Order: sequence, then C-alpha cells, then structure tokens
Amino acid sequence: MGLNKMSKIPLIIANWKMQLAPPDAPILARKIIKAAAKYQAAEVALCPAFTEIASVAEAVRGSRIALGAQDCFWEEKGAFTGEVSPLVLRAYGARYVLVGHSERREYLGETGDMVHKKVRTALAHELIPVICIGESFAERQEGQKEIVLIRQLHEALDGLAPNRLDKLVVAYEPIWVIGSGQAVAAVEAEHTHQVIKQALYDILPRAEVDEQIRIIYGGSVDPENTADFVRQPTVDGVLVGTASLEAVSFTAIIASAIKAS
Ligand code: PGA
Repeated sequence: MGLNKMSKIPLIIANWKMQLAPPDAPILARKIIKAAAKYQAAEVALCPAFTEIASVAEAVRGSRIALGAQDCFWEEKGAFTGEVSPLVLRAYGARYVLVGHSERREYLGETGDMVHKKVRTALAHELIPVICIGESFAERQEGQKEIVLIRQLHEALDGLAPNRLDKLVVAYEPIWVIGSGQAVAAVEAEHTHQVIKQALYDILPRAEVDEQIRIIYGGSVDPENTADFVRQPTVDGVLVGTASLEAVSFTAIIASAIKAS
C-alpha cells in the first residue's frame, strides 16, 4: 500500500471507550454508515466496548466500515477471567485492535511487556494492532517526551519479526490532551510523528516502516482540526474519542480528512 502524501487514504478510528450502552452503539454505527456512505476514500473503523462487539459487528456487516476492539488478551483460550480472546474478536470480524491505550496503562496497570504480548498475538491472528503511545504532561514538562515515546515503541516492537509487522498502526496520543477539547498544534504532532518514524527505523527495516506502518494522531481531534493534522506529511489519520460519539461530528471528521489528504 503506497502511503506517500499523494495517495494517502486516511485511517480514521473511533474509540467509543465505555461511553455507550445498548442499544446506542449499533444505532450510532448505523447512523455513521449512512452519513458516511458518500465518503469512500477513507479507511474507517469503529471500536465499541466488548459487550457491544456483536451488535456493532452486525451493524457494519456489508458496509465499508470496519470493526475494531479496544483491547484483547494475549492468549487464545484458557483460564483468564474477564479477558477476551483475539480468536473471538476475529470470529466477530474485527480488523483492528487498540493496544496499550493510555487509559489502560494508567488505570489497569498495563505494562510495556503486556503491550508487547498483545501486539504479538494480534499480529498472529491477523488483527491490525493500533499501538497507542503518548507522554504525560509531567513527562513533557521534564523534556522526557521523546524518550518516553521511543521506550514505548521499543517495548511494543522489539523482537517481533519484521514480516509479521505489515499492517501495523502507531497512534500518537499525548495523554494530557485526551478528552481535554484542546489538541496539540498540528505542527507539533508532525514533529513528534517524525521522531516516531525515526525510532521505527531503528527497530524495523526502513522500507517496511515507509510502506506498511501508519502513524495516526489522537487527542481532542474534532471536525475543525482534523484537516490540519491529516495535511501533515507523516500523519496518516486520526484516532477519535469524544467527537466519534456523534454521527454528525464523526462524519465531518471523515469528510475533512478525505479533503485534506
Ligand atoms: P479524545 O480521545 O478524542 O476524546 O481526546 C481520544 C482517545 O483517547 O483515543
């Protein structure tokens, strides 16, 4: 897949977190499918909570919108109370899985080692892992941002065979802007994405990074700022929380991303 600026198909992922109860998730999915039907030149995925996976899988069936999950476990089957297998996600037709979202790292104690195992398992089951990395406000203030991001990338990817890594997404999400309504400036995201790309070159073959790995931005993305982000050379799409909870705003983000690509 050519991912240079000219042929960029933006990737837009909705992270619905723990925000929707039944039947709101499939209703929202259907509204988005309808409203976004005319916007074909984007890759769009919806990540509902596990309990809504089945109903959203049903809603997106036959549409161009993909199903994603917010997490998955690193084993296929066994005595792992409360966890969800990648096999089950595949059975529902999931294509993407978020891994290492900052909320999981912060509230659920998800470590770099756990993220690594999840990435490995996702790839083995042909799920596209969306590896979420990002720095806290304190880390940024202390000038640690790049060190933190590079460490998170190494934790997630070191030791994985490059040929397993086609179709991998890295989502850069500065933790301190998530849900704040105030994204970072697009030029800062671009600079950070370049740092991420450079770090990926140290881990993986350069051609693989250039051709196969997409880097998307997340953190208070909205219909107004989407174009600024997607216009940046190394921003391949957006990961959207709050603004993905309304069909109108999420569809406007898709339209804007396509226009800016
Ligand atoms: P936000 O969430 O768009 O509400 O900032 C993004 C995310 O956490 O993925």
